[in-house]
Amino acid sequence: MSSLTIRAYPDPVLKGECAPVETITDEVRRLLDDMAETMYLNSGIGLAAPQVGERSRLIVVDAQRGEEGDTLLKLVNPRIVEKQGETKSEEGCLSCPDLLVEVNRFESVTVEALLPDGKETTIEAEGLLAICLQHEIDHLDGVLLVDRLSSLRRTLYHKKRVKEDAKPADEGDESRRTNTAL
Ligand code: NI
Repeated sequence: MSSLTIRAYPDPVLKGECAPVETITDEVRRLLDDMAETMYLNSGIGLAAPQVGERSRLIVVDAQRGEEGDTLLKLVNPRIVEKQGETKSEEGCLSCPDLLVEVNRFESVTVEALLPDGKETTIEAEGLLAICLQHEIDHLDGVLLVDRLSSLRRTLYHKKRVKEDAKPADEGDESRRTNTAL
């Protein structure tokens, strides 16, 4: 496994819809493993493929935030098939450094997806796992926390990020570690 570089706003790879995975090859499985390693290394609880520059419908999630274990989900072509209730959550994102946004989410969701071995799975999620799944599936549709800001806050954040991007990489990395991360 190897750790990948996390793409940050305003990298254009984060925008737009990602393509469904047609065939789960060894390359896809390797990418999922690398995404999981990258998520743990960055203390994240979820990561979507566009965040590492791949426009494929792949996510990894571990809402227990622990060491890699049986709470790790590696999902191919995940989609929400049922949703219930409403909740608000304060979310950060590895691709949006120094930003916390209050987001309206469904309280519980049912997600259908394929596992790395090609088998179908159905996940009935609530709490943090449900929020995490909604956040990562948003990434696959090109929706970022930034898109949920008022236009004033979005403009300010955009200016700040463009300035940050001009700084040497180590300074950028430091600020990236300060937030919770999905
Ligand atoms: Ni995110």
